[in-house]
Amino acid sequence: MSVAKLPTNEATNLSNDAWQTRKNDAVARGQGHIAPVFVEHAAGSEIWDVEGRRYIDFGTGIAVCSAGHCHPKITAAVTEQLNKFSHTCVMVTPYDTSVRLAEKLNQLAPGTSKKKSIFVTTGAEAIENAVKIARAHTGRRGVIAFNGGFHGRTMLAMGLTGKITPYKNLFGPFPAEIYHAPFPIEYHGVSVADALKAVDNLFKVDIAASDVAAIVVEPVQGEGGFYPAPVEFLQALRALCDEHGIVLVVDEIQTGFARTGKMFCSELSDIEPDLMTVAKGMANGFPIAAVVGKAEIMDSPLPGGLGGTYAGSPIGCAAALAMIDVIEEENLIAGSSHVGEVFATRLKALQAKHPDTIGHLRTDHGAMMAMELVKHGDADQPDAELTKSLLGLAYQKGLVLLSCGSRGNVIRYLPALNISDDLINEGLDIIESCLAELT
Ligand SMILES: Cc1ncc(COP(=O)(O)O)c(C=O)c1O
Repeated sequence: MSVAKLPTNEATNLSNDAWQTRKNDAVARGQGHIAPVFVEHAAGSEIWDVEGRRYIDFGTGIAVCSAGHCHPKITAAVTEQLNKFSHTCVMVTPYDTSVRLAEKLNQLAPGTSKKKSIFVTTGAEAIENAVKIARAHTGRRGVIAFNGGFHGRTMLAMGLTGKITPYKNLFGPFPAEIYHAPFPIEYHGVSVADALKAVDNLFKVDIAASDVAAIVVEPVQGEGGFYPAPVEFLQALRALCDEHGIVLVVDEIQTGFARTGKMFCSELSDIEPDLMTVAKGMANGFPIAAVVGKAEIMDSPLPGGLGGTYAGSPIGCAAALAMIDVIEEENLIAGSSHVGEVFATRLKALQAKHPDTIGHLRTDHGAMMAMELVKHGDADQPDAELTKSLLGLAYQKGLVLLSCGSRGNVIRYLPALNISDDLINEGLDIIESCLAELT
């Protein structure tokens, strides 16, 4: 069969629609995308598409480019590394940057225990490895995760994920020995006491506490709807894990690296995770992830049991080291809190204008903010249609926006931590005009 030859040198003059058509033909539908926008270049908190249209970016590639697109210091560090070498495999001939980065993460991780780290490439891999380490440490099999949690798209991570559509549909069976409990969300009538009672019930009816290797929890649920875990809940889980010798794995993949106004969100609850998974904002767009944790737990697997060909690539290590410098030098932790405050003021005013539509605001965690859209002000009537329409209209008006939530009715805001007030206001003006048009 002959294959049509693609035209050469045509990449820059095709429209978004034309690329969409080619994508539909070439890429399987399972790898979908939100916006009908094909990116040509991006800088800071702005993106330009192949048609030359400009967008304000309130998504940062799902909480990744927290220092803004193409941050010069990170680009310079990556370029310098590329000119030295791009890959040798950290499991064959390692390099100083992988050691320096581990030292840095160990020092930054919450708590006073001695820490060690390992590197992988994606968030899902970090979660998988955290469970492997917890099982090796405890010799136990069970893992408890929470309804609405999201931990990635590999089999074990998907099994831990507490949301069926679109992540788990068609893909079962999932790995055994995973148990889910409700996540406390006051707005939806699930209290901390309810959630803890459910974990206790799991111990009675499904798996003995002495058979549980790990409890895996996000300090703010990401995909699940940007619901923060209450301080008393995380502290109670910490105590429960201590009582039963269970490894507490805190998934900071979306919340880490200054996103919530602290270097790591666990600090807000004053807990020390046994293991912490990190990725996304760690390297501002270069694929690297890690498990950081208490040294005696981290050292449980045998040599060679953890890793991967691209684990801790030199490019990722260079980018992550530069990103951590940028967070410190440009004080992005304070930046995150400032962004959160600017959003909070405007979103509260918007909620006052649309009290029946904006059912709930979540603006207490730095630059990880959300508004939940409902009908008639009723928490039990999610407005997924409006959420979808708002996203679509926002793109048309030049704003990259994301949604989330088990019920598809949450708009989440994940801008860069150094976005200017002017761009925040310009973006929120667009939201305001979209809501005025759609409601
Ligand atoms: C909390 C959390 N854990 C795990 C993951 C999976 O990360 P990755 O997509 O890099 O595998 C994500 C991704 O959105 C996440 O938000």
